[in-house]
Amino acid sequence: MVSIALVGATGLVGQTMLQLLDEEAIPFNSLTLYSSARSAGKEVTLKGNSYVVEELTEENAADSHFDYVLMSAGGDTSLRYAPIFEETGAVIIDNSSAWRMDPSIDLVVPEVNRASLKRHIIANPNCSTIQSVVPLKPLADLFGLKRVAYTTYQSVSGSGWKGIEDLDRGEKGEKPQNYNKAIYHNVIPQIDVFLEDGYTKEEDKMIRETRKILGDPTLNVTATCVRVPVPHSHAVAMNVTLDKEVSIDELRQALENFPSIVVMDDPSKEIYPTPLDAAHKKGVYVGRIRKDPSLPNTYHLWSVSDNILKGAAWNAVQILDQLIKGKEV
Ligand SMILES: NC(=O)c1ccc[n+]([C@@H]2O[C@H](COP(=O)([O-])OP(=O)(O)OC[C@H]3O[C@@H](n4cnc5c(N)ncnc54)[C@H](OP(=O)(O)O)[C@@H]3O)[C@@H](O)[C@H]2O)c1
Repeated sequence: MVSIALVGATGLVGQTMLQLLDEEAIPFNSLTLYSSARSAGKEVTLKGNSYVVEELTEENAADSHFDYVLMSAGGDTSLRYAPIFEETGAVIIDNSSAWRMDPSIDLVVPEVNRASLKRHIIANPNCSTIQSVVPLKPLADLFGLKRVAYTTYQSVSGSGWKGIEDLDRGEKGEKPQNYNKAIYHNVIPQIDVFLEDGYTKEEDKMIRETRKILGDPTLNVTATCVRVPVPHSHAVAMNVTLDKEVSIDELRQALENFPSIVVMDDPSKEIYPTPLDAAHKKGVYVGRIRKDPSLPNTYHLWSVSDNILKGAAWNAVQILDQLIKGKEV
């Protein structure tokens, strides 16, 4: 039995992690829930027990004795509090982008790589990156990976409650408050801020995190990230160049044999995954597997997954489950 704290317990990701602790029968004997001062005092019921959400402060973090701390409360909160929890001896699994590219921090997708635990902070990757590296891993291992070009179609829940509220506002004819353009009846080819090279920070995250998770620092990766007016699940169109020519059957087989991948791919029956197929499910759904005749050894894939589940809460709880039970995915 372990003691667990959840920071960001009132958020979209936090609430889903709570449900998963119950669903996955994570064996905890104490659970402490934190939010900011805004939601402190709210009551949450889990397994018939009621928990009152507390405000996270430096004092209560420093005085804590948790085995594991799950954090999903934004980068600034993680930067400030994760080292304090680490100092107390806890292992922190963090959903924000704050620690992901720190060379001393593990960036983990349990199907793909393992934590070395050099530091006791483990980073959960970006949501679109997770659902991309899961199908890329078997292709890299079996056929060699030369290059990948991503185009994403990311749902509004990727921005937390704020994103869902903006889509609702648009439906009612109101102006957005979170996005800088209307998301209702629109798509926005900007996620996060622009960098000097014209890429957005979200695109830069996908590029750098893919290389780190796959352990290939020179892999050619490029990305265009787009917000779409869909409540749940991100889709990623991937154009993938391998080291050698393979058949579509070989590709399909490699994907089918890999954990967490569900292949939905039969053009003759118009079968392929959509965000609605993946919403509220844990898997990574892959379809539209086909050859790209414009380049040698190059193929198209379409990956769809629930960004709150595999893209965040489920990936974090899988890491926790592995650490507690030492089990394989
Ligand atoms: N949504 C996704 O698809 C997704 C995917 C991957 C990673 N993430 C990451 O997961 C994190 C949470 O995202 P979300 O979508 O769940 O956002 P959200 O719905 O906006 O929830 C944010 C949570 O953080 C808490 N919080 C904010 N400031 C805090 C502080 N100073 N101290 C303690 N708690 C604080 C909020 O508490 P209050 O209720 O008090 O405001 C709330 O519980 C972010 O870092 C995000 O980048 C999200």
